[in-house]
Amino acid sequence: MTQTALIIDCDPGVDDAIALLLAFAAPDLLELLAITTVGGNVAASATARNARIIRQMAGREDVPVHIGAAAPLAREPIAASHFHGESGLGDLPIFEPVAPAASSDSATAIVELVMSRPPGSVSLAITGPMTNVALAMQREPALAARLGPVAVMGGARAEGGNITASAEYNIYADPHAADIVFRSGCKPTVLGLDATHQVRATPQRVAAMAAIDAPYAQTAAQVLQFCARTQQALVGWDSPPLHDPCTIAWMLAPQLFKSVPARLQVETDSPLTAGHTAVEFRLSDPSEATAQWVTEADGEGVFNLLLERLAR
Ligand code: BDR
Ligand code: CA
Repeated sequence: MTQTALIIDCDPGVDDAIALLLAFAAPDLLELLAITTVGGNVAASATARNARIIRQMAGREDVPVHIGAAAPLAREPIAASHFHGESGLGDLPIFEPVAPAASSDSATAIVELVMSRPPGSVSLAITGPMTNVALAMQREPALAARLGPVAVMGGARAEGGNITASAEYNIYADPHAADIVFRSGCKPTVLGLDATHQVRATPQRVAAMAAIDAPYAQTAAQVLQFCARTQQALVGWDSPPLHDPCTIAWMLAPQLFKSVPARLQVETDSPLTAGHTAVEFRLSDPSEATAQWVTEADGEGVFNLLLERLAR
């Protein structure tokens, strides 16, 4: 089976960490070219350190980690440490990892990797604010057309927002960057809250993860238990949604998701609705579609994939 060459652009982040573990646990299917980090859930220096911590726990120092944008394109940074803990990794142990970050920044790494490989051969999973990717697209106008499949965790349609009434966090944190990416022509598959809220870490699923005697699964279980406690305290949910792992699950098993073509636009100006994703299905011509919007996710299937992979 051929491997998918993949860059993960992320802001770990508890659910980003599980996405990374899932990707690390699929070396037969994914050739991980790089992890490019960005400021988001916590500061850029912390998201890069956190990615290096997860990389070291996974024994995957072969994958470079790059440090990315510290601030959104046009607004002040908005952290989400209330959901992710002060460190960004919940209650996982924090330490200075042995292997350093790569010398080039995230946007540079994205441009170099995509432009040096055959057209359409590098996939991209984005699980944080899209600042790095927008910067890369500004720097290299040919980038969007050269990318392979792109999966984005971001946005909300039916569900409403999770950081404001109308916006999901990743889009709200840098709406101008999201606007650039959605206008670029890269036609991403977008896993917004409509999809990720169908993939829940129920108490039974978390217990099943905790029962697996394997290091990746034990780390994931600790993260999920933290998420469950935090979400219970903050929003009253005992089954937190697994947002970011859905992008990797889509790369590994796209049959677990259903999507429809949409014209996707982002509100960048209004103080009231900044970061809102307008998802239009009523297209007079299919060429008007700028994205595939995921409407259905097989929550049981995604969790079984996680259990199966993290047990290895
Ligand atoms: C997204 O926001 C972040 O806090 C999570 O890591 C995820 O990427 C969910 O809205
Ligand atoms: Ca994230």
